[in-house]
Amino acid sequence: MEVVVAVPLDQHPGPEELRGRLVAAAASAVPGARVAVELAPMEAGELAALGERLRALDGAGETASGPPPGAARPSPIASRRSRTRVLAVASGKGGVGKSTVTVNLAVALAGSGHSVGLLDADIYGFSVPRMLGVDHPPMVFGGIVVPPVAHGVRTVSAGFFVDEDKAIAWRGPMLHKALEQFLVDVHWGAPDYLVVDMPPGTGDVALSVAQQLPRVELYVVTTPQPAAQRVARRAGSLARQLHLPLRGVIENMSWFASPDGGRHELFGSGGGAELAGALGVPLLAQVPFDVAVRQGADEGMPAAVVDPEGEVARTFADLARRIAELGPARVYRSELRLSE
Ligand SMILES: Nc1ncnc2c1ncn2[C@@H]1O[C@H](COP(=O)(O)OP(=O)(O)OP(=O)(O)O)[C@@H](O)[C@H]1O
Ligand SMILES: [Mg+2]
Repeated sequence: MEVVVAVPLDQHPGPEELRGRLVAAAASAVPGARVAVELAPMEAGELAALGERLRALDGAGETASGPPPGAARPSPIASRRSRTRVLAVASGKGGVGKSTVTVNLAVALAGSGHSVGLLDADIYGFSVPRMLGVDHPPMVFGGIVVPPVAHGVRTVSAGFFVDEDKAIAWRGPMLHKALEQFLVDVHWGAPDYLVVDMPPGTGDVALSVAQQLPRVELYVVTTPQPAAQRVARRAGSLARQLHLPLRGVIENMSWFASPDGGRHELFGSGGGAELAGALGVPLLAQVPFDVAVRQGADEGMPAAVVDPEGEVARTFADLARRIAELGPARVYRSELRLSE
């Protein structure tokens, strides 16, 4: 049996995997069949048609019920009818583990059967491609970007479009435009969750994300140092300014678990609970400090994937379950305007 498969690009990512799956599928349908698979690049007309089909799957055209007024080109995810929950992971300061939490949460949500996209909104300091171990860039054709999938998570990052060694020096409007493209031109496939890795602090990007995604929910990451009050104020005031529903606090690097089962509080204790109390939201998780977490981030193998039975994996599975149980926030901030 000879099968010719039309693929979007000349260099289709993972051609051997695709061939292997087709051969296996054919063998299970027709036992004993010998299958030769040929991959043939699509022609311009086919590419345009495929782009249209993917847009339709995303729910484009369903924004008639009202795109967010701030968005020049609305994303289907921003539509009132969208069922995608948008979870923005933020913090008042850098280096507390936002990206680590975002990546492991996304993997945990995918592991519990949800469809998940991960938007790396840290345009300047992107780290998601490395942490997720994405090995090929998105496919771009027919005016649409098809994100790569790693560990069950679709992801888009500025890291796919710029040279890693070159600094990006974009001002607010260009950042806004880049985020708009990431939301509008990407085939997210109407996922159950879009997890957003926010840049440190409370700058232009946070404003753009809030404007372009009216149903975004905010989750704040902190370390356990009790001196969390300043961070609390910043995160709280960001949420208030942007009218974002703040849903919970995640404490990272809570303790170091030694092999003898002891828990060592390297960075103090109580910061997460204190912050949650000050903001009036639940403390949703305490993630231990674990060398495997950093190693996993460096090697593109999230800890939740490396050791699915380990404490870190269980913590993130628990966090995913708690967030699912919280349910979507009942806020649609249609009052937002770009000009404000
Ligand atoms: N629970 C953990 N155990 C061990 N290492 C961790 C843990 N969480 C984060 N790290 C490590 O700490 C460093 C900072 O984490 P990460 O990049 O996720 O922080 P961030 O808040 O996203 O930083 P930035 O503000 O620069 O975006 C990374 O090297 C990461 O691997
Ligand atoms: Mg980060």
